[in-house]
Amino acid sequence: MGKASRDKRDIYYRKAKEEGWRARSAFKLLQIDEEFNIFEGVKRVVDLCAAPGSWSQVLSRKLYLPAKLSPDSRDTDPPLIVAVDLQPMAPIDGVIQVQGDITNARTAEVVIRHFDGCKADLVVCDGAPDVTGLHDMDEFVQSQLILAGLTIVTHILRKGGKFIAKIFRGKDTSLLYCQLKLFFPKVTFAKPKSSRNSSIEAFAVCEDYSPPEGFSEKDLYRLLKEIGSPSGADNLDCGSAWLEGPNKVYIPFLACGDLCGYDSDRSYPLPQVADGTTYKSLDPIQPPIAPPYKRALELKKAANQSVRELEDLSLDSS
Ligand SMILES: C[S@@+](CC[C@H](N)C(=O)[O-])C[C@H]1O[C@@H](n2cnc3c(N)ncnc32)[C@H](O)[C@@H]1O
Repeated sequence: MGKASRDKRDIYYRKAKEEGWRARSAFKLLQIDEEFNIFEGVKRVVDLCAAPGSWSQVLSRKLYLPAKLSPDSRDTDPPLIVAVDLQPMAPIDGVIQVQGDITNARTAEVVIRHFDGCKADLVVCDGAPDVTGLHDMDEFVQSQLILAGLTIVTHILRKGGKFIAKIFRGKDTSLLYCQLKLFFPKVTFAKPKSSRNSSIEAFAVCEDYSPPEGFSEKDLYRLLKEIGSPSGADNLDCGSAWLEGPNKVYIPFLACGDLCGYDSDRSYPLPQVADGTTYKSLDPIQPPIAPPYKRALELKKAANQSVRELEDLSLDSS
């Protein structure tokens, strides 16, 4: 799809470029905030799976820049924002970047070190694997990313803090809900207006971090495994009975963002240009600096070049 055509079919893609966001995902976080007020009182935050960086931009604009521009900025520490991704990201004001895999313990250690013994107020995770189209497989890999995020949460989030994570809705959604409920008394699955209805993504908004009494981080996986297993359910308030049958768990699901706002599944006409010239599509704000498909593009370019050279050769010799 060309840029102008995408501008027409994807209003959030066009708006992101107009407002200086690196990706349309920025609107998802903004719309979650409209509903849940997630930035209130936040001074320290971790952005997991952050590249190309539109959520980090939101964090910078909502937390770091206002603090930096405030008259008493000299007397207070600026908000701490740590962003992590497999891919490198172009710099963002007030955002510390860590390049690494969130499923790797060493990455978690680097993040924790940046907090220097302090705890975070908010952890966000927009992680997504490269989707295969095999629904169950994609949902499984996605849930592993969330659990890696949850591992970091148990080390770094302060009691009462919030965790926002992208989920893929599928047949194991109830299990994931119950696992999150172990640590957060309030869990809502939210669908921002900027997330297409045709997409299975939604966001778990987990509030008021309250790990079980006597919880130790090394028990995390044992506890998660007990959820939904008939043997381990008795001492948990979200056992196997919650996952099936007439008692099946009820998951709070909420659409968020201004319901009269732009509809991500609709095409909108391109804006009229005042001086009568044709509409010019804007370039993306910050293309990825080292995307995983970079090598593929280089190989494709080299292959096209070789074909052209061969064609020139055969023309010369005819
Ligand atoms: C949808 S994008 C995130 C978009 C970002 N929130 C933004 O607003 O620009 C998903 C990201 O997850 C990252 N990711 C996937 N698996 C990861 C992993 N195991 N560790 C770190 N990052 C990962 C990908 O590299 C990709 O940049």
